[in-house]
Amino acid sequence: MKVCRRETFNAAHRLFNPEWSDEKNLEVFGKCSNPNYHGHNYVLETWVEGPIDQEIGYVIDLKKLKDIIRNEVTERFDHRNLNLDCEEFKQLKPSAENIAVVIWNLLRPHIESQLNLSVRLWETENNVVEYDGK
Ligand code: NI
Repeated sequence: MKVCRRETFNAAHRLFNPEWSDEKNLEVFGKCSNPNYHGHNYVLETWVEGPIDQEIGYVIDLKKLKDIIRNEVTERFDHRNLNLDCEEFKQLKPSAENIAVVIWNLLRPHIESQLNLSVRLWETENNVVEYDGK
């Protein structure tokens, strides 16, 4: 059984390689290389998979999952500039892929180990990445 909590956050980023020219960055990263940053309305789906705990009838209490996501992820990244404000992205490009890995690593210690965790991060309505630890 899989259950999901959906949360959203807004954050700014810039994707660029400091060793490349502005032209090459624009060629590779497109608008995401805009030197003055830009924002995304990220949609984060946190999927938890495991058996139904028949004592409570849930796989995981989604209220508890919501609190974990808000404490570990939303409060950390919402209304931030990921490049400038967030330690996690000082050395790591804040692409959707890398953000999803960072989020998974933040959440994993708070989810019981017998439950599988997968995070799906929508950067735009059309672009989504998913990470489950592999
Ligand atoms: Ni972008």
